[in-house]
Amino acid sequence: MINGEAFSSIDFVGQCLVDKERTQAFEQEISGIQNLSEKTVLDIGTGSGVLALIAARCGAKKVYAIEYDPFVAAIAQKNIDLNKFNSVIEILHGDARTLSLSGLHFDVVIAEMLTTGLVEEHQVEAMNNLQEQGVVDENTIFLPSKQSMSMELVSYNNKQHGVSFDFPVHLWKWHDWSDFQIQNMSENKEVSTVFLNKINSMETILETSLKIIGDGEVNGLIIRGKTHFPSGAIIEDTEALNAPILLPINPQNLKIGDSLKFKLSYSFGKGFDFFKIDI
Ligand SMILES: C[S@@+](CC[C@H](N)C(=O)[O-])C[C@H]1O[C@@H](n2cnc3c(N)ncnc32)[C@H](O)[C@@H]1O
Repeated sequence: MINGEAFSSIDFVGQCLVDKERTQAFEQEISGIQNLSEKTVLDIGTGSGVLALIAARCGAKKVYAIEYDPFVAAIAQKNIDLNKFNSVIEILHGDARTLSLSGLHFDVVIAEMLTTGLVEEHQVEAMNNLQEQGVVDENTIFLPSKQSMSMELVSYNNKQHGVSFDFPVHLWKWHDWSDFQIQNMSENKEVSTVFLNKINSMETILETSLKIIGDGEVNGLIIRGKTHFPSGAIIEDTEALNAPILLPINPQNLKIGDSLKFKLSYSFGKGFDFFKIDI
């Protein structure tokens, strides 16, 4: 993967669109915003334009929609034309990590460039760009407002088709993972929360220890993501968002009651190349 850009394909944009649980959760939040007709909205990573279109349909005064993939941006424009929202929605073609937005101010920021642990995609850097430019303030509503992550240790079968594999896997719920024979080997513990309405360091270090609940070999770590909205609503593992990540770790033989201490460090949005686990 090249620098967290795995989710830029049109294929994934289509999968986001049909993920009802995810899209309806955003729609619920957008439709609940008071006086939207007086508000300027920014939709970051607009993809098909679905969230920008929902904001426009809910009556937003003006919607700016950022997309950096030229092919996807042209598709979003087509969809805006098709739905006759050209006078409300304006596509800004550029990279949300660096795009200059000077002269603008946003009352609502919608951003779905989320992945479990914010490991891939550019959500954190894009939010930092908004804060650094002063185009948002303490009254700006962020959808979502925070992203949290939890971890648990597992044992799993890393042999598939008769050969052994060692790489991180997104456990998308539409695939059958039964051949992996994943077994929980520890408690699941919440280890971090990233607030998306403030500047965050791009580097993160998570140190924790997990209590073992079964005797045997542990060879994997599962990271789970949760997306939080200002209303208190939460989305967990949906068809296109927050797939649990299974990370291989050096096998360890452990007993019930043991604790495994480890440190995980990575850079937000840089993907697995920059992931490091110390046990
Ligand atoms: C997960 S999709 C979400 C699409 C849409 N917002 C939705 O909710 O269905 C993320 C989108 O963000 C775009 N994107 C990713 N990184 C970006 C960046 N740095 N600047 C602008 N767009 C970006 C991708 O091309 C993709 O269209």
